[in-house]
Amino acid sequence: MLTWVPTARAQDSTIRSIQNIFDPLSAPAETIYQTSLLVLAVCAGIFLIVAGLLTYAIIRYRRRGPEDDHEEPPQVYGSAAIELAWTVPPILIVVMLVLVTARTIGEIQHPKLPESAENIRVIGHRFWWELRYPKHGVVTANEIHVPLSDRKKRIPTQMVLESADVIHGFWVPQLNGKTMLVPNYRNTMWIEPFATGIYLGNCTVLCGEQHANMLIRVIVDPPAVYKKWLESQRQPPPPPSDPQAVEGQKQFIANACGTCHTIQNTAANGVFGPDLTHFSSRATLGSGMAPNDDENLRNWLEDPQVLKPGCRMPDMHLTKDQVDVILAYLGTLK
Ligand code: CUA
Repeated sequence: MLTWVPTARAQDSTIRSIQNIFDPLSAPAETIYQTSLLVLAVCAGIFLIVAGLLTYAIIRYRRRGPEDDHEEPPQVYGSAAIELAWTVPPILIVVMLVLVTARTIGEIQHPKLPESAENIRVIGHRFWWELRYPKHGVVTANEIHVPLSDRKKRIPTQMVLESADVIHGFWVPQLNGKTMLVPNYRNTMWIEPFATGIYLGNCTVLCGEQHANMLIRVIVDPPAVYKKWLESQRQPPPPPSDPQAVEGQKQFIANACGTCHTIQNTAANGVFGPDLTHFSSRATLGSGMAPNDDENLRNWLEDPQVLKPGCRMPDMHLTKDQVDVILAYLGTLK
């Protein structure tokens, strides 16, 4: 039975494992967090007042004995003071919340981003993420590298969100609110992380069998490390020299893997599946499902449908020898 082997993932201390809106680490997420605190505080205040008055009335006017049954409380008809008290303050509260929310939405949807901002195109596919860095000519998948920002020297990242098939949702709670990826439409969002590390997120719109395994990893690196990563992604990998890997490349092409996957400088130029040009530089497989190691990759190549049932990669019925050499070849794609 093929299964995922979860090794490094649990031990990776750089993963900010909480997907928590109350621990924002990015400019727009902070703005949302502050607004949510204000709304929570107002609601908590209203709850305490209402619950307090109710409790008071229940205790103060409870039935104490049979004599209470004959006594009718004073009947009050119409009171301008009471009517004003429960009309005017709620209106003021609602108006205040509307203004604050409108300002927050404005800040998040129409930000003034500096020239230094990065640009990424995120394209949702069933069930993985295509990532394009148009300024740098880099194409990758599932693991979104972005630079760390600094409050003085800002480097936010602007994202254009699109879909190749159905509606998906992009949400990394510590970085920003959710945004949908809608076919034939371009949504935008931005993030501006203030701490390095790996941020986890999920697709938030039910998009098919493997919706739950359409995981997002955002890797925030200091600008120098990010630049190096871009540099390495821009270079096509050198042609394989090891005989096993050379045979693996042949088998990769012969088995039509290249109709769905692209590997730069080879005949593989498909766009239905993730770009594999630097496949080995990615830490995970199957859109964040498991660590990208030999054992998991071997299981994946033997039959992706066992590990990710319903995913778009069919069982290619590769022989053991074919899996061995393709594994060796993919290992060279650093
Ligand atoms: Cu994509 Cu759910």
